[in-house]
Amino acid sequence: MHILVVNGPNLNMLGIREPDVYGKSTYADLCELIKNKAKEMNITVELFQSNHEGSIVDKIQESYQKVDGIVINPAAYTHTSVAILDALKAVAIPTCEVHISDVDAREEFRRISYVGLYAEKKFAGYGFDGYLMAMEYLKEKYA
Ligand code: DQA
Repeated sequence: MHILVVNGPNLNMLGIREPDVYGKSTYADLCELIKNKAKEMNITVELFQSNHEGSIVDKIQESYQKVDGIVINPAAYTHTSVAILDALKAVAIPTCEVHISDVDAREEFRRISYVGLYAEKKFAGYGFDGYLMAMEYLKEKYA
């Protein structure tokens, strides 16, 4: 099984960015954690981070028939991007939505998720563990 993990804008600033909300660990730490988990699960993983909506759309399109599952934290684009939602619907790859923070317990606008209209499962508020939970969910259901 091959999983694509996509991280949206400002997640490359983890560790620096609002540590009280997102923690002190860095994006490199997150990548390491995900790669180690993939090894342990005996699956392959590709990590992609971008601050650009169109690049995320491109990456999702390129995954068509190449990827068995997508784990995506669209960050701020969660709450705005019809384009990312449509890309996920176009490729029709099983997808889980992840948020480090508990988006439903924050500002009202963070409760809206366009990606959530396609993603079959959401893990929010579990910190970095949410990514690992999403990987396990996809493997259990689709491997
Ligand atoms: C986030 C939550 C979003 O509302 C925010 O814009 C982010 C990160 C999270 O992981 O908790 O950038 O997706």
